[in-house]
Amino acid sequence: MKRFREYRIDQATRDRYADVKVTANDFIYPYFVTEGTGIIEPIASMPGINRYSIDTLLTDIAEVLKLGINKVLLFGVVENCVKDEKGSAAYAPDNLVSRTVVAIKGQFGDKVTVITDVCLCEYTSHGHCGLLKNNDVDNDSTLPLLAEMAYQHALAGADFVAPSAMMDGQIEAIKTKLAKEGLHQKTKTLAYSAKYASAFYGPFRDAADSAPSFGDRKTYQMDYRTLHQGIEEIAADIEEGADWTMVKPAKQYMDVMSRGKAKFPNIPMVAYQVSGEYSMIKAATKMGYLDEKRIVFESLIAIKRAGADYIISYYAKEYLEKWNA
Ligand code: PBG
Repeated sequence: MKRFREYRIDQATRDRYADVKVTANDFIYPYFVTEGTGIIEPIASMPGINRYSIDTLLTDIAEVLKLGINKVLLFGVVENCVKDEKGSAAYAPDNLVSRTVVAIKGQFGDKVTVITDVCLCEYTSHGHCGLLKNNDVDNDSTLPLLAEMAYQHALAGADFVAPSAMMDGQIEAIKTKLAKEGLHQKTKTLAYSAKYASAFYGPFRDAADSAPSFGDRKTYQMDYRTLHQGIEEIAADIEEGADWTMVKPAKQYMDVMSRGKAKFPNIPMVAYQVSGEYSMIKAATKMGYLDEKRIVFESLIAIKRAGADYIISYYAKEYLEKWNA
């Protein structure tokens, strides 16, 4: 008989045998940025998360840097009046996200790794992730727009561009464009490879004002009843040159992540603990049904244990600040 209980005898012993940890360096912290100044606008469905204007964002980034978080992911939130069919505001040379990247890099330089989300859903008047044809997203005519958006972010100094539109060939289109412009060494790609069509994105769509005005995203995001396609999506992105890869959402898709990481151990794997995962914990703990700190620790460590090298989490700041992790 092996005496496993000897490893659990007291806290110090348990700590000694714990082989999975989540620390500041594991986190990528997501931000919603909006036009204006002095704005810190709470998002109702995501308590504790705000939309920031560039100036207040810089102040917040200074805080998270002090906690040791050194990677941020940016989403642009624009007014409805600037949205159009083609999502032009996403890739205009003076677009909001590029201006934000310039401001962050100007203030913090390489102390912060800046990752930008590349997708049209926040910028199109119809709220879908690309151009439409026959009421569906048209894959191939969307690719050059995603490439242009990525290029604009790269030009501004983004360290990574992260295409989340789930168009086939988007990594290749972006890689080719960046190489053509000589920006491929500076700006890498974080591929949202296995992104499932998920009800867990609900609160984000409030936050980013990006809900589709008709239909859903099931023709481009993955069906959650598929496993092998998820691995194939990861493989295809790596083949196209993805530098980092991602599975999203995190918790419900840890099997996909584990298998993907096992198959491609040398490619950094990112897990996105999405808005619904965050809001679910917030709501249940507010009701007093669950203990927030314990639930958050268990969730984040489980995601890391399953194979994540990095975790995108709305809880990153609280985890380090409030609970001193
Ligand atoms: C699309 C995008 C979404 C999320 C990240 N990028 C929404 C969607 O695909 O519907 C969701 C993130 C979250 O729920 O936290 N640009």
